[in-house]
Amino acid sequence: MDFTKQLLQWYHKSKRDLPWRRTKDPYLIWLSEIILQQTRIDQGLPYYEKFVSAYPTVELMARADEQDILKLWQGLGYYSRARNMHEASRMIVRQFNGTFPDTYDGIRSLKGVGDYTAAAVASIVFGLPFPVADGNVIRFISRFFGITESTDLASTKKRILETARDHLDHRDPGDFNQAMMEFGATQCTPANPSCPSCVFHKACFAFKQGMVAELPARSQKTKVRSRYIHYLVVTCTLGGEDYIYLNKRTGNDIWKNMFDFPQLELPEGIKQDHPLKVGDLKKFFPADQSGLPITHFQGVSSKYDHLLTHQRLHAWFYHFRPEQKIEWPYLLVPMKRLDDYPVPRLVDRYLKDFLYLCV
Ligand code: ADE
Repeated sequence: MDFTKQLLQWYHKSKRDLPWRRTKDPYLIWLSEIILQQTRIDQGLPYYEKFVSAYPTVELMARADEQDILKLWQGLGYYSRARNMHEASRMIVRQFNGTFPDTYDGIRSLKGVGDYTAAAVASIVFGLPFPVADGNVIRFISRFFGITESTDLASTKKRILETARDHLDHRDPGDFNQAMMEFGATQCTPANPSCPSCVFHKACFAFKQGMVAELPARSQKTKVRSRYIHYLVVTCTLGGEDYIYLNKRTGNDIWKNMFDFPQLELPEGIKQDHPLKVGDLKKFFPADQSGLPITHFQGVSSKYDHLLTHQRLHAWFYHFRPEQKIEWPYLLVPMKRLDDYPVPRLVDRYLKDFLYLCV
């Protein structure tokens, strides 16, 4: 049996029943693909459901506040994807009169839509013959067809995409693409795939050559930079109500337009394994931290580590509890309103521990 037929047979028998597979609404399928770029299906599903119930149509998403979009996206990471998705919904309303574009180029022109998402939406919704190659497809193709060159190279990626194109099912490119992704995600897994029971094992290059663990080949290791962040968590009680100071992140760094705390980051290259002494916080801080109430220091957290694609963050949280408001340029927010503010996962992890200790 040929590769495509066997793959589709496997897919029709084994595919998961997922909400975006029960619709042909391009908005919903685009939304699912943006979320799935970010996470595995089981983790993406609750996010998809939250977004669909908050914004069942593209018009409703376009009318939303960015802060609400970021809040719903919270925990998925890569927040620029959420901002781009929001911007794309506005493009659809303004430039396409609310009708989702139905050509590859039209879809590809939307903010945040790259080759992968354009091909996925074009094939799944409109039956257009564009192959996809996400990480799961790259792994499956390089193992099955024996592509041994590094998949970091543009030439290898092109070859993998060409291989997918050569085997694409022209009657249903959308099912073919989803089958490739699903097979890579659930059968041809990165570690410990169960090759002997795999429907493709007799013809699989990597299995026959004993190269399953070596493929896909990688040449470059991505450089990861370490950053050490000292967060100042300042809370106070005013008129019987608890407040906390938040920092809105601007500029071109990570987590733009999300909220964390006032912070100190020492220059790159100073490796730190321990928190700073409280007196040193003030010494290292820029002038606008002069209000830091060091005499009301409550304690410092243990170290929180958080891995992003190119950065390894190490953070400590120093808690201060002054008796009054302090004069500094941050947002004073009632603790009971904290849920309204989108925060990065690192901060959310700390807040969960901190609020647990407070109650
Ligand atoms: N990964 C991303 N999108 C997918 C889809 N539609 N089906 C299976 N896996 C996917």
